[in-house]
Amino acid sequence: MAKKTFYVTTPIYYPSDRLHIGHAYTTVAADTIMRYKAMRGYDTMFLTGSDEHGQKIQRKAEEVGKNPKEYVDEIVETFKSLWKRMGIEYDYFIRTTEERHEKKVQGLFKKLYEKGDISKRKYKRWYCTPCESFWTDRQLADGEEKLCPDCQREVEWVEEESYFFRMSKYADRLLEYIKTNPDFIQPETRRNEMISFIEQGLEDLSVSRTTFDWGIPVPFDERHVIYVWLDALSNYITAIGYETDRQNFEKYWPADLHLVGKDILRFHTIIWPIILMALDLPLPEKVFGHGWLLTKTGKMSKSKGNVVDPNILLDDFGVDPIRYYLLREVAFGTDGTYSTEALIQRINSDLANDLGNLLNRTISMIDKYFGGLIPSPGPEEEVDNDLKQSALEAISRVEENMENLKFTFALEELWNFIRRTNKYIDQTTPWLLAKEESKKERLGTVLYNLAEALRIIASSLKPFMVEAPYLIGQQLGIEGLIREAEWEDLSSWGVVEAGVKVSEARPIFPRIDMEEYFSELEKREKDSGPEQKDRGNKDIKGEKELISIDEFAKMDIRVAEILEAERIEGSNKLLKLQVALGEERRQLVAGIGKHYQPDELPGKKILMIANLEPARIFGVESNGMILAASNEEGDLTLTTIEKDICSGSRVK
Ligand code: MSP
Repeated sequence: MAKKTFYVTTPIYYPSDRLHIGHAYTTVAADTIMRYKAMRGYDTMFLTGSDEHGQKIQRKAEEVGKNPKEYVDEIVETFKSLWKRMGIEYDYFIRTTEERHEKKVQGLFKKLYEKGDISKRKYKRWYCTPCESFWTDRQLADGEEKLCPDCQREVEWVEEESYFFRMSKYADRLLEYIKTNPDFIQPETRRNEMISFIEQGLEDLSVSRTTFDWGIPVPFDERHVIYVWLDALSNYITAIGYETDRQNFEKYWPADLHLVGKDILRFHTIIWPIILMALDLPLPEKVFGHGWLLTKTGKMSKSKGNVVDPNILLDDFGVDPIRYYLLREVAFGTDGTYSTEALIQRINSDLANDLGNLLNRTISMIDKYFGGLIPSPGPEEEVDNDLKQSALEAISRVEENMENLKFTFALEELWNFIRRTNKYIDQTTPWLLAKEESKKERLGTVLYNLAEALRIIASSLKPFMVEAPYLIGQQLGIEGLIREAEWEDLSSWGVVEAGVKVSEARPIFPRIDMEEYFSELEKREKDSGPEQKDRGNKDIKGEKELISIDEFAKMDIRVAEILEAERIEGSNKLLKLQVALGEERRQLVAGIGKHYQPDELPGKKILMIANLEPARIFGVESNGMILAASNEEGDLTLTTIEKDICSGSRVK
């Protein structure tokens, strides 16, 4: 029998700017549900991409003196590298400037035109010149003055020619569909909003523009370009082979889930279904409109300067803590506030403390009491059975929550089980059992059960996290089991084989010292100055201001030999280095801990800036800065020297 399929999409994001944590929120949620469904045996299809046409993008490109395609090409690369860093495993990344997509959108427009659902007419409307948007009487507030609802400036009465899509023809059918398919729009409250919106009556939609040309031309009337939303929404079908690859299209369409923010729910639950009805295609199973991720100073916006850059968070905390935080902190569907304090608290309490300690205690005890080999279990006692039952119950509750996109509650259930397993250690007191030779078998049972509980925990984390499950697996010597684990394996007990060798216990989630972190951050921001803080378009090309030779000469760049390296507690990124500059010894702090292990560094000759002001980072004094190269993908390499030369030599 053919496998069941599951097709999930994210919105396709505007490449007018870099993405922020709000965009990452939707995409991480989509990736998580996709991984979960894949573990449940579905043949999954996960689509994301970029929505590249429209006036806003054309303008942005003009501002920096580029043509729009050149401009979006650069930004789209930053999208792809962010998704790679966040562990997003999409099957296809659609760009609306792909020829394949453009052709199909033209075909679809023509089809609707020939069917009579799209027609051209002149119309008179209120027009806001600065916003370039049209308004009907109904949309403007009552009063003497006619003001634009968006910018509050005065609008003018203009006559335009445009193609119109007859939305009204399908309004009753859509309403009926929404009412008889209660799962189609979620969450419930948003569904009710959409129903009352449609009940007020749908106006025909203007689906072409003549005021700019960065768009897909109307195939039979090239003065017009197709309205961006018609172009954008169609991506969900063009990407999977609508009218080109029938087999693939029929395999995945209708989509099981469109995940969108609440801001664009209306487009997805009114315009999109009506387009599909007009094309005689089935409607998606579900459109879920989640809430906003806000900051303490409100909605994220570039002009307010409160945009949270996921790349910086990835550098500082790593991928799994961020994925965990996004899914755990805010109930999916409601608005929530992002804060780095809350992120650090989650890392310290849930990840380092609850999960990290459980792993650490288990591995250390297997090491200490059984020479590092997972022992065989003996007869079961009441408390063991209780642990087993808790695992089964936890997994079934996680399942139930995942089916309803309740990521927060799914993780809460999992963490209840993690805490319950920690409690099992306190109940069974292995350190006391170890004191009596006659209790050795019982001790073996307890440690076996802990390893088994950790197998279930690590495997059930696979939809949410992309590194930790395998690190847990490695340390327990069962990485293969974790990699291959399917969801149904989580309901069996006794899968881990006795005799497997565990490796050294190492913290997978180092604790972060909140105070140190914020003082380091403050210093970093001060040092980098405003133009670096704003990782805007300038930085995409890596361009910086020109400097004079005198300014360059102020820098004392030298060859240094690394003598010692060790990790700094509380940070998974920072290393404390002792280096030699000729006869002189220096201590410095370097942010290379995710790319180099301390033991591979001594003996390396690297380049460093020797005359940087001293600083304290994470409480450690740093006298200089080593040089390293990094790229958008997050790769990093130290700069070394081509031929050997003694340490202390100057670089000119
Ligand atoms: N290009 C359109 C979507 C077309 S889909 C056929 C668009 N793009 S966007 O770049 O503005 O991204 C919008 C989506 O990004 C939102 O719907 C939401 O999913 C996500 N978010 C952007 N900012 C967000 C927050 N602050 N919080 C949560 N999600 C947010 O609209």
